[in-house]
Amino acid sequence: MKTVLSLMVLISVMLTGCQSKKDTSIKPGEVWLDVDGNPINAHGGGLLYHQGMYYWYGEIKEGETYLPDCNKSWGGTRVDVTGVSCYSSKDLVNWKNEGIVLTSVKDDPSHDLYKDNVLERPKVVYNAKTKKFVLWVHVDSMDYQKASCGVAVSDNPTGPFVYQQSIRPNANILPLNVEHQDSIGGAFARDFEKGQMARDMTVFVDDDNKAYLFYSSEENKTHQIAELSDDYLSLTGKYKRVFEGRSMEAPAVFKRNGKYYFMASGCTAWEPNPARSAVAESIWGPWKELGNPCVGEGAEKTFISQSTYILPIQGKKDAYIFMADRWNKDDLPDSRYIWLPLRIDEEEKLVLQWHDEWDLAIFDK
Ligand code: GAL
Repeated sequence: MKTVLSLMVLISVMLTGCQSKKDTSIKPGEVWLDVDGNPINAHGGGLLYHQGMYYWYGEIKEGETYLPDCNKSWGGTRVDVTGVSCYSSKDLVNWKNEGIVLTSVKDDPSHDLYKDNVLERPKVVYNAKTKKFVLWVHVDSMDYQKASCGVAVSDNPTGPFVYQQSIRPNANILPLNVEHQDSIGGAFARDFEKGQMARDMTVFVDDDNKAYLFYSSEENKTHQIAELSDDYLSLTGKYKRVFEGRSMEAPAVFKRNGKYYFMASGCTAWEPNPARSAVAESIWGPWKELGNPCVGEGAEKTFISQSTYILPIQGKKDAYIFMADRWNKDDLPDSRYIWLPLRIDEEEKLVLQWHDEWDLAIFDK
């Protein structure tokens, strides 16, 4: 009898295993499980499409959330750094964990990737010339005063990425739109010799394969756009100050019909705020702000989320996904993902609406 029972259990386990457990829809704000049934751990992330596969890179948030003394004045809770995760998917819904592609350092406090530091908003791009995958990431000290960007490189999308260095961008270089540093003053002039601050950031690769780093600079008050070298591993020194004094974070950039679109958040740490959007005919601007693209209930808090990336879907016209984080500042590992379809209306303004559940067919309607 026992044997028959065990056999039946075995058969039913096998049958369940054979049934397709594939998800078909995206449920913003719910726990999103990977194909092994574990919650996806890829916060402040970015997407890369390469040879028929999407790769999702993000911050691993695990362990205890705590408020270090150095961040008490502004409430900056944190978890120690584990590294950058990578997930792969063909359908953008079912994700396979590809492991840690850039790992923190446990025993060398002088290393940028030391666990007590900050590693945020990783973005990976592919360099067609060198055939390398290049990862840019916000690297910081626990108190966020280092404000630098780090770069790592790999031969494969799934890593391992080899860390190169961190930099304070554009030391001793004037932006294209400034004639003398003293005409600007503030953090810009203060950091002129040392290099500009770089915190929240993203990388955008244009149709001509030139790549650009967008980053919150000057104590997060002003954004800067800097051109990357041909191998994407450094900056050329060509850069501009944009959105002066507008205090934007969490930048995301995409291109449509020859125009560049930008989304970001305001500057309120882990708390949500109204999203920002902008458009430009040239990457160097002038950038025209288009306001908060969110409509309906929850719009004023970006549906309790903060932008991280905008993904153009391969093979579909005018199909973009707005990817964002719903941070849980008291339990950062339980922060959720808000992915929503992004529309562009007749006046070429961005429109973002809440959906409890949706699938990619929404773009065919
Ligand atoms: C947010 C920022 C995040 C992280 C956080 C720390 O404003 O977008 O990337 O730095 O602050 O509190």
